Amino acid sequence: GKGAAMVTAVAYRLTEQARQIQQTLAEFRLSKNQLLEVKKRMKVEIERGLKKDSHKDATVKMLPTFVRSTPDGTENGDFLALDLGGTNFRVLLVKIRSGKRRSVEMHNKIYAIPIEVMQGTGEELFDHIVHCISDFLDYMGMKSARLPLGFTFSFPCHQTSLDAGILVTWTKGFKATDCEGEDVVELLREAIKRKEEFELDVVAIVNDTVGTMMTCAYEEPTCEVGLIAGTGSNACYMEEMKNIEIVPGTEGRMCVNMEWGAFGDNGCLDDIRTTYDQAVDENSLNEGKQRYEKMCSGMYLGEIVRQILIDLTKRGFLFRGQISETLKTRGIFETKFLSQIESDRLALLQVRAILQQLGLDSTCDDSIIVKEVCGTVSRRAAQLCGAGMAAVVDKIRENRGLDHLDVTVGVDGTLYKLHPHFSRIFQQTVKELAPKCDVNFLLSEDGSGKGAALITAVGCRQRELEAQ
Ligand code: GLC
Repeated sequence: GKGAAMVTAVAYRLTEQARQIQQTLAEFRLSKNQLLEVKKRMKVEIERGLKKDSHKDATVKMLPTFVRSTPDGTENGDFLALDLGGTNFRVLLVKIRSGKRRSVEMHNKIYAIPIEVMQGTGEELFDHIVHCISDFLDYMGMKSARLPLGFTFSFPCHQTSLDAGILVTWTKGFKATDCEGEDVVELLREAIKRKEEFELDVVAIVNDTVGTMMTCAYEEPTCEVGLIAGTGSNACYMEEMKNIEIVPGTEGRMCVNMEWGAFGDNGCLDDIRTTYDQAVDENSLNEGKQRYEKMCSGMYLGEIVRQILIDLTKRGFLFRGQISETLKTRGIFETKFLSQIESDRLALLQVRAILQQLGLDSTCDDSIIVKEVCGTVSRRAAQLCGAGMAAVVDKIRENRGLDHLDVTVGVDGTLYKLHPHFSRIFQQTVKELAPKCDVNFLLSEDGSGKGAALITAVGCRQRELEAQ
């Protein structure tokens, strides 16, 4: 009778709804062939970045770092390190001791960088940084020491030496004026002079990927690759000097900061980018830039999820069709929330509690859908990142003319460390897409700070040698 017809109609609507949700998520599910294609395209962009003729227009910049070797254990001394560009801004004192009982001791303090400062003038940003250093030196009682300093500055810099780096472009949440095109080391030195309180010897500017690689290499000499899967996404590795055409010399190796976040900025990933990826890009501070990073990193995964949820709500599949103010708010789904939502140990009720905390009233069905959306987006991120890494390790293997390569990758970043599934899916993807490489992944403890100090130590030693 009528009742049965209504039940059928409701059931039909539900299955039709489920079908449409699956259809939406299907765009995010990449096949092995698609991932192999991504790996292949990464390889093409790597070559374009390395070659003199194509470097200028290349999207994956392959920036030389002037780090020519990994640590050898003879590094020694007290160093100051700055770490800018990750989740936190930190100032560190790092004491490295060489010899039989080599050790690294660290003291650090975290400082906030208010959004107004991140997006204000360059002078304000660097004055703020120097203000924090001043506070730290007071706290440690070391204001008169004139320490050598390593500056971990996690943005693309065009380096001409260890201690000179011209900011190519801001990425992630930064947008301070008058810095792009300037030597960041000079900006820091000038700010230290303006303050007239202490002196420092800025020895090295270091990308966080490089700091991470060096920190891991200090413990494990086979480490020749660094990866950050955090707020941003990027990698570095030891490339043959003869392949780095924009640096003179052909002997030995140099670490190259790939800046792979910009992969796809020439449109080469357009066939796999979804309308949600485009919306995230349009809503960002740097439209059109860092397209791969916007599909892979912690700062943007939550934004992709939010765009999908808005769309599903508009279509009446979620939150009773009501788009709340919360859902309209940029940046609500931080990495730590996604990680919680996707945790296997979490009952659906707890997912609902998390959504509630964010100000989203959900039904039980809603929470199931939200969890699936999060899982699909983070899986694609891990796979895309894995495809990039597969290209890198295979490149190293080919450089050395090997049928088989054993290599260690040093890794850091909140997404990699906090997310319950990212690291596993990432590793599995690398294994599948680069079967001729045995890749060992090593988590770095405090990579950026320690690495900057190690590089500074090497830099100081090099200088002493040159002075003799
Ligand atoms: C962004 C930066 C890059 C950094 C990465 C991870 O991609 O451009 O320099 O390594 O974030 O922090």
